Amino acid sequence: MAVDLLLGLQWGDEGKGKIVDVFTSNYDIIARFQGGPNAGHTLVFNGKKHVLHTIPSGIFHEDKVNLVGNGVVIDPVIFKKELDKLEEQDVNYTKSLCISRKAHIILPTHRLLDAASEASKGKAKIGSTLKGIGPTYMDKTGRNGIRVGDIELEDFKDKYRALADKHEAMIEFYNADIEYDLKELEADFFDAIETLKSLKFIDSEEYIYQAQQSGKTILAEGAQGSLLDIDFGTYPYVTSSNTTAAGACTGLGVAPSQIGEVFGIFKAYTTRVGSGPFPTELFDEDGETMGRVGQEFGATTGRSRRCGWLDLVALRYACQVNGVTQLIMMKGDVLSGFETLKVCTAYNYKGETITHLPYNIEEENVSPIYTEIKGWAADLTGMTEASELPENLNGYIEFLEKELNLPITIVSVGPDRKQTITRKTV
Ligand code: GDP
Ligand code: IMO
Ligand code: MG
Repeated sequence: MAVDLLLGLQWGDEGKGKIVDVFTSNYDIIARFQGGPNAGHTLVFNGKKHVLHTIPSGIFHEDKVNLVGNGVVIDPVIFKKELDKLEEQDVNYTKSLCISRKAHIILPTHRLLDAASEASKGKAKIGSTLKGIGPTYMDKTGRNGIRVGDIELEDFKDKYRALADKHEAMIEFYNADIEYDLKELEADFFDAIETLKSLKFIDSEEYIYQAQQSGKTILAEGAQGSLLDIDFGTYPYVTSSNTTAAGACTGLGVAPSQIGEVFGIFKAYTTRVGSGPFPTELFDEDGETMGRVGQEFGATTGRSRRCGWLDLVALRYACQVNGVTQLIMMKGDVLSGFETLKVCTAYNYKGETITHLPYNIEEENVSPIYTEIKGWAADLTGMTEASELPENLNGYIEFLEKELNLPITIVSVGPDRKQTITRKTV
């Protein structure tokens, strides 16, 4: 069976966690392939909210396998906290959760290095989540990293010490004003390593291959969004992994020919958390309304998310680099009540109208060109059928389908599992 992908098409927080949870009943295995605890995936069901960081969003379905792939970076301390929360909810993960031996480990000093690097950048800081993501992927590509499989080896502690000592020297080099007690951080780290050891470590590429051979269905869950991709995002204001479809191949060991559906998920407007260009960002009442009604606060850091109109130039680009086959539109309910909606269909780029994403999308180079669309007033949050959706919302959706040349098959009208409407099947 092919591996299906579910990917964020914007700057993250599109609602991936919610939809993966909804889709889990259709799959045998849910697999994360990149990112780490910088992610915050929110699920809401039975009146309760759950936020996952590293653990796949299928974990509440105990009969499904949840796999943390080789492309993911794991902070054992945060992972342990996630497990503790699951235990509080009586979720039994011991049989269903497994981790790739090839996944890299975030050391406490990676987190410190992230903080030191950000502090040294001053105004040019990335706005990182400070979870150590950049430094850990740097050690991975620099061939210095420590992997989950190393935990099983006798020299794990020596490996750890050598890398942590090197990091301490690097932290000093930054000359940043950060205080820390490494001994305390290390005690938590090694305690969490012991917890991690109680889980199944697997050769996940082999596992996935065998699962495919035996007809199992697999959904790969993306983290972050396409515009945060290390290659195709708004560099350097990006994360340090490939968040796009190609990342699922390298982050799980799945061949490109084995990819099936590519579900592209986007908000009906746009948000961004952290620094970096955002052509359709709003600094007015409309942006404030989106933030307030949409509860736009980061699930990992609690920071306010910047809000703006939907950007079809960026969205088209994301559909293209990912090979999206169908679209899922989230948070349409947040736009209820706007008399007129704006959608960016092109950019004015240095005086020229363009419809592709240029190298520079900073404010001084790009200004959005908008098409106006009539809004709707109805509250969508209680709707369950496509036939109930207001005419002007259908007009908005059809406009987007035409512009993007892709079907919008699912419309989400609230955070709860149940607030999910299937519009069409393809
Ligand atoms: P993820 O990182 O892509 O999984 O998304 P986040 O969980 O970071 O952010 C999405 C936020 O929007 C969460 O608070 C969700 O509970 C919420 N959410 C998801 N879908 C909808 C929706 O259709 N309407 C509204 N109002 N909220 C939603
Ligand atoms: P989910 O999976 C939104 C952003 C950070 C920062 C940049 C780099 O919940 O959609 P990093 O910590 O990766 O070095 O930060 O990327 N960022 C996210 N923004 N959602 C996320 O994940 C994000 N993960 C990282 O805010 O701008
Ligand atoms: Mg999130």
